[in-house]
Amino acid sequence: MQKTVVNSWNEWDPLKHVIVGRADNCHIPPEEPALDAKVPEDSDMRGQWGRRPQETIDRANELLDNFASMLEGRGIRVDRPTPIDHSLPATTPDFHTDSQFGCMPPRDVLLTVGSEMLEATMSYRCRWFEYLNYRPLMQQYFNEDPNFRHESAPKPRLTDADYHPDYLSEKIGVEKRLKWTAEKFFVTTEEEPLFDAADVLRFGRDLVVQHGFTTNLKGIEWLRRHFPDHRVHAVNFPGDPYPIHIDATFTPLRPGLILNNPQRRLPEDQREMFSANDWEIVDAAQPAHNAPPPLCYSSTWLSMNVLVLDPKTVCVEASEVYQMEQMDKLGMEVVPVELRDAYAFGGGLHCCTADVYREGGCEDYFP
Ligand code: ARG
Repeated sequence: MQKTVVNSWNEWDPLKHVIVGRADNCHIPPEEPALDAKVPEDSDMRGQWGRRPQETIDRANELLDNFASMLEGRGIRVDRPTPIDHSLPATTPDFHTDSQFGCMPPRDVLLTVGSEMLEATMSYRCRWFEYLNYRPLMQQYFNEDPNFRHESAPKPRLTDADYHPDYLSEKIGVEKRLKWTAEKFFVTTEEEPLFDAADVLRFGRDLVVQHGFTTNLKGIEWLRRHFPDHRVHAVNFPGDPYPIHIDATFTPLRPGLILNNPQRRLPEDQREMFSANDWEIVDAAQPAHNAPPPLCYSSTWLSMNVLVLDPKTVCVEASEVYQMEQMDKLGMEVVPVELRDAYAFGGGLHCCTADVYREGGCEDYFP
């Protein structure tokens, strides 16, 4: 088995060790400012909360277990988190919420940069304690890898001062949302640094970070100061009315090639570092579905939420026929993985994993 060495600098080098989430005891959390702003207005989740139905938990776990076994079959070491009791309320001196979220998806919480794993601040109250699901693994890595750096970003207070009240009205309408996101007026304020790990993409020396609902400019500035040897770039995608987590929007496949959601194109003025270094940004294929599955936060664009196993091999959700076809045309070997029935738990193949070890070092792709 792959021994414990934490090392991963990008999204595509050969993957040897990964964390795969679990659906156990996942909850739909009660209303709270940042989460409400993100739940689509026509969603079947509006106004309801509580433990997710057991049969959906069992089904999601079955798919996650199968995904883990498939990866193990390819020689990749897979670790799993230890779920805490998400039904418990979370209370700090600053806020209270009646339940938590789950231990899915790990990508949102853990950011691996080289030999470091950084627990994100998070920006939802229901996810404030989510890092605890991964602490047994962090302790194990700390014991086994003498170079492992376990870091945690300053826990935010998440008082009402962190959220713009404008986003709390029941019906905002997509038109107004698009106007707001184009103006970079998001639900989170600049009260304190906030970021979710899934807003960050790693390109060796460069980190590309989405400014949106779950990551504010202070969060990006915090990352810049925390990783002084990196260049940290803020990006935003005006076409997305619910901008959280970059990995169904912008997906690097290998050095020189990125898929971009055609409804959320990277603005021209933010493309320079890519074009100057001959990186190609291509429109992702259309999703195979017209709507997300029941009780799902995400859009149909989880189609492009793929896990790259190495620069020639990529896991794509098995029902996403157009995305698989596009990968094939781009010269990638496609490993189809059934995961759609787990989407409701927070995302697709990239979301439900977190890197521990990829071969290779820190390269400069944008000299
Ligand atoms: N915002 C994305 C969408 O709905 C979903 C991203 C999910 N990613 C994640 N790491 N949880 O299109």
